[in-house]
This record gives sequence, structure tokens and C-alpha cells, in this order.
Amino acid sequence: MSGLRARIIGTGSYLPERRLGNVELAKMVDTSDEWIKSRTGISERRIAAEGELTSDLATKAGQKALEKAGLAPKDLDLIIVATTTPDLIFPATASIVQKKLGADGPKNIPAFDIQAVCTGFIYALTVAEKFLASGSCKHALVVGAETFSRIVDWEDRGTCILFGDGAGAVVLSAEQGDAGIISTHIHADGNYVDLLRASGGPSSGAPDGQDPRLPGLGAAQMRGNEVYKRAVVGLGQIVDETLEANNLQKSDIDWLVPHQANLRIIKSTAKRLSMGMDQVVVTVDRHGNTSAASVPLALDEAVRDGRIQPGHMVLMEAFGGGFTWGSALVRW
Ligand code: UT7
Repeated sequence: MSGLRARIIGTGSYLPERRLGNVELAKMVDTSDEWIKSRTGISERRIAAEGELTSDLATKAGQKALEKAGLAPKDLDLIIVATTTPDLIFPATASIVQKKLGADGPKNIPAFDIQAVCTGFIYALTVAEKFLASGSCKHALVVGAETFSRIVDWEDRGTCILFGDGAGAVVLSAEQGDAGIISTHIHADGNYVDLLRASGGPSSGAPDGQDPRLPGLGAAQMRGNEVYKRAVVGLGQIVDETLEANNLQKSDIDWLVPHQANLRIIKSTAKRLSMGMDQVVVTVDRHGNTSAASVPLALDEAVRDGRIQPGHMVLMEAFGGGFTWGSALVRW
């Protein structure tokens, strides 16, 4: 054991300028502001501008995290981008971000993507932590970034009301001491692929009804109610697993930074932890579900406004397509 911990030394985020509110959405599909707010807690979401790519959002969030960390792009040893909506099929969005950030150069630092849908950021953090705790890297940038609006079926009221675009990032540093990532826990169950997915792709071909010579873009499809039930169970289990692994009580957790899919799901996890909503970071009302970006976006907000303070115990969790789910426990 190296005794090193992966400490988060800077956070950053970026949201596209365009806001899409519920009232405007209700002119596009058969829904209402009241329905969306009461069933999901969402009031508005951000939509990337034409030509604004996942790598652009990721780069801006990464720059802000680096500024907060007091580091230059050349100080990085590793870049991981969690995304479900990469710029290209290949190469990885992380390679594009490396170049756009100015982290290219003599060291040729590794840069790769992770695809675990809404749990992507937790998966990416888990991988980065291994590099840092083993001493292989000193500084890593982990980004969750999505332009989910590009794979939303804007005629499906069951999904289009939920998603939004954005990016969040953290800079991690390998350090001695108590502060940093204490444990991460990740899971997947491939039996549920069909409940939440975007069909179409280079291997399986075009989504139904499209020209089979073109892989095309599949729209996100979800059996919302079934996903909802599984999410509540999965998140409850991951919270218990995290506490048990670290011999902690519920009352030891200062902040819950959950994936922002649905306010009702967030409340049920908070209840499981016997936490008041004043200890839960909520951004779903303004961001919607930004998939892999949602946890680092919420984290950055609570760090910047001073809610999360040194010494606080922060529990991040997420659940998403795959199914995948996971948590990261961090002493700030
Ligand atoms: O981030 C990855 C994980 N994703 C999630 O965790 C999302 C989990 N799922 C959810 O958040 C919820 O299931 C939804 C918000 C998607 C849907 O809420 P629900 O309470 O589960 O509604 P439902 O799917 O059971 O549908 C109830 C009714 C249906 O009408 P009928 O059949 O009862 O007449 C739907 O057609 O609500 C209808 N409905 C809508 N009505 C107005 C579905 N979407 C809408 C809508 N506006 N946008």
C-alpha cells in the first residue's frame, strides 16, 4: 500500500446557455409544467447550441476545475471522460479534450472515455482513484460530459422532458493524509439492457426504419416506471454497502450528492440515509438529468457555494443504463 489517497483539489462545471423550460416543452409534446414538476422535480434543462459538442462542454468544465486546483493543463498525467454522447464513434472524446485543453505535449498523457451512462462519472472516478492511489499518476482530470439532447426523441413525452446537457469535472491529486476518496463501489447487471437504451450503432446497425447502410443515431428509450423502481432499490443497496464497507453510521454522512434523475428518487435515497433535504445537493430542478455530468455538476455547485467544507463526508451515488450503479465516498 502506497498510503496515497486521491484527493479532489478542484471542481468545475459548464452549462450551455440555452434554457428549455417546461412551458416551452409543453408546446412541443403533450405534457404540462405541473406534470413534469410533480413527477420529476424538473423546471428547466440546458440545451447545447448547434455545433457545441460534448468535448467543448467537457473542456470548459475541465478548465474551471484546473483553475480551482491551481494547476496548468501540462501538470495533468491522465484524462478520463465519462460520456454516453461522444463527439465521434472514435477516437475517444478524452483525446479531443486533451488537445482542446492544451494538455497535449511531450508527456503524451493517457486519455480515454468511459461509458456507463448515468453512472459514468462514478465509474471514471473509480478508475482514476486506482491510478492515483497506486502512485502511477500524480494529477488526473475526470470529466462527466453530455449532449444528451442529441439522442432524445423529442416526440416522446416519457423521455424528452427528463434530459439536459452539461459537464462537470474534478481534478484529483495523489496525496498523503485523510482527505480524499475513501472508497468506491460499482456494479452492473446486463439483464436490464432493454429497459433503458439508445438503439442503433456501428455493430448492430441502424435503428428500425432507418437506412441500414448508415449506423445512424438511436434515440434514448426508457421504460420509465420499471427503471424508477430498480433505481430506488439499487441506490438503497449501494448506500448500505458503502456505509458497511467503511464501518460508518448514516449520521456520519454530511452531504449526499446524488445523480439527478428524478427528485422523488433522490428523496427516497435521502430517507434511506435518514438525511434531511438540507443535506442533499439538488440541481435536477434546473439541469434535468444530464447523465454522466449530473454528479460532478451538483458537486461543483455545492463546493463553490461553500456548503461542502474540508473534513465533510460526502457520498456521491448514481444509477443508469446497463443497468449500472455505484457510489464514491469522499472525505473533503
Ligand atoms: O438516469 C437514469 C435513470 N433514469 C431514471 O431514474 C428515470 C426513472 N423514471 C422516472 O423518473 C419516471 O418513471 C418518469 C418521470 C419517467 C415517469 O414517471 P412515472 O410516475 O413513472 O409515470 P409513468 O411512466 O407510470 O406514467 C404515468 C402516466 C401515463 O399515463 P397513463 O397510462 O396513466 O394514462 C403516462 O402516459 O403519465 C403519462 N405520462 C405523461 N403525462 C404527461 C408520461 N410522461 C408524461 C408527460 N406528461 N411528460
